[in-house]
Amino acid sequence: MDVLETKEDVLQFRSDLLKNGDELGLVPTMGALHEGHLELVRRACAENDTVLVSVFVNPTQFNNPDDLEKYPRTLGEDLEKLRTLPCDIHVFAPGVSEMYGSDISAHQYDFKGMAEVMEGAFRPGHFDGVGTIVEALLRLILPQRAYFGEKDYQQLQIIRQLAQQQQIPVEIIACPIVRESDGLAMSSRNRLLPKRLRNEAGFIFQTLKAAKTLFGTKSASEVKDYVRAAFEEHPDLELEYIEIADSETLQPVSRKQKNKKYRAFIAAYLGEVRLIDNIALN
Ligand code: PAJ
Repeated sequence: MDVLETKEDVLQFRSDLLKNGDELGLVPTMGALHEGHLELVRRACAENDTVLVSVFVNPTQFNNPDDLEKYPRTLGEDLEKLRTLPCDIHVFAPGVSEMYGSDISAHQYDFKGMAEVMEGAFRPGHFDGVGTIVEALLRLILPQRAYFGEKDYQQLQIIRQLAQQQQIPVEIIACPIVRESDGLAMSSRNRLLPKRLRNEAGFIFQTLKAAKTLFGTKSASEVKDYVRAAFEEHPDLELEYIEIADSETLQPVSRKQKNKKYRAFIAAYLGEVRLIDNIALN
């Protein structure tokens, strides 16, 4: 499996592809790959001639330096996992200076109110950092399709907006959330959980499922109250936010409308580890 490290390598790879008329799928990741990432790669393999997986822990999207430092970096294991997939995969694993030069900073975007809520409210600057790196990757790699997980649903919607605003000709493909057997959404951060807390982590998805059931008959604010109360009862989990928002615009809903789709979003701490999850409500 080819591991490209420089932008120059990518340009060469890109021009070889063009000669063959091959279609390219991009799967951007920060590594520490798990089954959730591998599902994105499998889908990309099924829909493209060649797949490029980028592995880059993007410093500008971390608002907390400690979180950036602790983020797992496991390139050797990641490559082993990708090698088990039966398709033509290349990896782009640049260093920070290759992507940013000496100026490690983010562009500022206007994501039309989508970056001010939920993750954007609790992680200031996060989506500017995500936008900066995803725009740079899309412009460099020029894939026909790019794959993102609904695990980071707000990110997915913001990236759709980014591609449209910046007129980047790429199809953004959404992939469903892959979960552990107890419902915990797979995440690179799960491996940071001590065993005792890992055993409690299924509670997040159980609560989201209960919220979905309640949403059939209750108002959004009643459902949010239910979730808050459920977390209050659980000593090991600290709820950061519960939000119910329009699936398209991500704006928090007060009154349900029949023709709209909604999702519930949770961020919660288990000890030091911050996890997010979401569920479609209708
Ligand atoms: P990362 O957290 O590594 O996730 C890479 C991609 O995998 C994202 O699109 C994410 O939504 C998806 N993913 C992660 N866990 C998943 C799960 N359990 N089920 C389905 N998809 C899952 O998201 C990022 O990296 C970064 O912000 C990035 C887009 C790479 C920009 O730096």
